[in-house]
Amino acid sequence: MAFVFINAGRKYEQINKNLYGHFAEHLGNGIYNGIFVGEDSPIPNTRGIRNDVAAALRQIQVPTLRWPGGCFAEYYNWKDGVGADRKRMVNAGWGGVVEDNSFGTHEFLDLCEQIGCAPYIAANVGSGTPREASEWIEYMTFAGESPMADWRRQNGRDAPWDIEFIGIGNENWGCGGNMRPEFYADVYKQFETYIRNYGERKLFRVACGADGADYEWTETLMRMAGKRMDGLSLHYYTMPGYYSTDEYKWERKTPAVGFDQANYYRTLRRALFIDELIVRHKHVMDKYDPERRVAIMLDEWGTWHEAEAGTNPAFLFQQNTMRDAVVAGVSLNIFNRHSDRVRMANLAQMVNVLQAVILTEGEQMVLTPTYHVFELYKGHQDATLIESYVQQDLTGTEEAQVPTLHISASERADGKVHVTLVNLSADAAQEAQVTLAGRAFTKAGVRSISGDMNSHNAFGEAPQVEIRTLPDIDVQGNSFSLSLPACCVAELVLE
Ligand code: AHR
Repeated sequence: MAFVFINAGRKYEQINKNLYGHFAEHLGNGIYNGIFVGEDSPIPNTRGIRNDVAAALRQIQVPTLRWPGGCFAEYYNWKDGVGADRKRMVNAGWGGVVEDNSFGTHEFLDLCEQIGCAPYIAANVGSGTPREASEWIEYMTFAGESPMADWRRQNGRDAPWDIEFIGIGNENWGCGGNMRPEFYADVYKQFETYIRNYGERKLFRVACGADGADYEWTETLMRMAGKRMDGLSLHYYTMPGYYSTDEYKWERKTPAVGFDQANYYRTLRRALFIDELIVRHKHVMDKYDPERRVAIMLDEWGTWHEAEAGTNPAFLFQQNTMRDAVVAGVSLNIFNRHSDRVRMANLAQMVNVLQAVILTEGEQMVLTPTYHVFELYKGHQDATLIESYVQQDLTGTEEAQVPTLHISASERADGKVHVTLVNLSADAAQEAQVTLAGRAFTKAGVRSISGDMNSHNAFGEAPQVEIRTLPDIDVQGNSFSLSLPACCVAELVLE
């Protein structure tokens, strides 16, 4: 038995809706085929963007979308992707395939308008110039007369777009130029100087942050450039790696489906580590920015498994199971709880790449278990974080102990309290005694997904994982009990 406490009387920060953001890179079938099929495709589309995918993304209220990469951003020249004459280039980082640039700035911003999300542009620092980045902003956001704004008009778009978020570089400690933090901090300031605001909107400038637990990177960036940034990114991928005694080496990635319980709990332990990472980066940032003005932008997170057999390994196409859904559930709970500093998170990646919410094959589209987690959690967007915790035993293996239940809760503007609860146990249902405080409630609506840890949704087959709506629970006094099946992500709406 676990004891769950939810206190609507103790309120914290607003949960920034952008914690529910996504990331789409020119990688494999992430953009082409997955999102963009071109106007002449037999797959129903609006100006080349798949109607089925756009509708599914509207449903989960995607708040923001980061593009064009990733590592791709660091060899991308935006000028190749506008106008009638698009350059055909090699996507050297992701499989050496032809990138025909048919999806460029106009198409990306059309996608954002179709799904109703805010664009988050990643500018090229590693192989680009401050002038290129500066002209890109001028092209997208300037309303007056200028070479770039005039070019935009010639290319069919009169009104400027409303761009808020600009990332200045991606993984500049790695694929973005292999820089030292001191060197990148100077380069960041150089680029940032020329990224100007046009019109009313003040750009939100994001500096490249650390690779996982590199606290030294955060320390240097905050010390040298903290006052000139609005956000600092952080990338963390969950890989259930282990030491192979057959090969005498670390296996970083393992299959996306067909794993055992040891692998399952190791994955969850690694996913939960993101809590410690955020705490420690926050601690470093607090030294330089005690008011917490600079946001942590977790702009790449998610599971990274082996690519599916028979697919191009450089395309990073992986299936998505209830294990991935549990990872998403605990990660999003953790981000909610760090709303005092974490103000954006972008799942890697939105369609067909890594922990995707949508998979496509030709005209078929599959919604993954992770998609359903975003549906169950969307009530947290812009709600106020409230107190919630669980008293319980741990579960897992000797190697990887994890909490059995994982929770976050928020109060929405309409007064409803939104609770998300995850049962991490692979094989045991969990009885929970829920106690409410701070206000009176009369009922709880429950929706959930659950299944075997390996269950997933495949093309041409009936879905194994779908949201189930359970009968409302009557709340008598200030408590009720609840049974959560094994490997389950649930949403409770209290009113
Ligand atoms: O998401 C795939 C890759 O992972 C991104 O391009 C890069 O930023 C990260 O290393």
